[in-house]
Amino acid sequence: MKNLYQKISIHYDSIYRWKDYENDVVILEEFFRKSEIMVKQILDVACGTGNHDLLLARKGYRITGIDSTAEMLAIAKKKVRNAIFRESDMKDFVLNHTFDAVICLFSSINYNLDLRELEKTLRNFYRHLKPKGICIFDTWILKKNFRNRLNGIGYTDEDFDIVRFGYSKATSNSRTSTSLYLIRDRGKLQFCTDSAGHFLPSEILALMRKIGFNSSEYKIVPHEIFDSNATRKVDRNFFVGIKV
Ligand SMILES: C[S@@+](CC[C@H](N)C(=O)[O-])C[C@H]1O[C@@H](n2cnc3c(N)ncnc32)[C@H](O)[C@@H]1O
Repeated sequence: MKNLYQKISIHYDSIYRWKDYENDVVILEEFFRKSEIMVKQILDVACGTGNHDLLLARKGYRITGIDSTAEMLAIAKKKVRNAIFRESDMKDFVLNHTFDAVICLFSSINYNLDLRELEKTLRNFYRHLKPKGICIFDTWILKKNFRNRLNGIGYTDEDFDIVRFGYSKATSNSRTSTSLYLIRDRGKLQFCTDSAGHFLPSEILALMRKIGFNSSEYKIVPHEIFDSNATRKVDRNFFVGIKV
């Protein structure tokens, strides 16, 4: 079965039209300025349709983007002509190149469903960084009281509707949310599922220290949530680690 992003790639930028990518770039550059490395080459992991990459490339950064969904990359390639894009999984990509910065944005890190997967991915980010290189990713904020619950949310356009019903589940060794998406695309009904893992800031920071990031901090930033009016604001966490 096709994954969510294969099904929605051509609608992705409309669905998330409210997302403030410019502000993300402001946040990224604040972190870059504070690091000891002059950031020129950036690896954007789970780059999607390349919205951050377009803005960063315009500012003169050299961009490589990877994503596991070819359909998303096809859009990124058209949008950002002077970047390199590769289809790869964040847990095991091998680029034989190291970067000044590795970024992974818009909760893409939550595609690691438990701490074991997260460790594999963060070790891979670490491997692809130059010494003193900076790693930045953001997640939904996770409160200690993550609990089992149901939720629903949607987006609609002339010929495209998408409704998400989700449930969150905490077990002894993981906390995941699974969403069932119902999609009507030019009259055709489809469905797919999508799962995300959730981590406490303390768990992420402990993992980053274990991997060898010598300083790791996180910053809480108010951010719009996925809803058709984009009116509600939820906090997000930006995590930053520096390679020794
Ligand atoms: C919410 S989108 C974020 C895209 C982009 N970073 C942005 O801010 O618009 C999540 C992206 O993660 C990608 N993705 C999901 N699992 C992945 C994995 N294991 N490895 C690499 N990319 C993955 C999806 O294909 C999708 O493009």
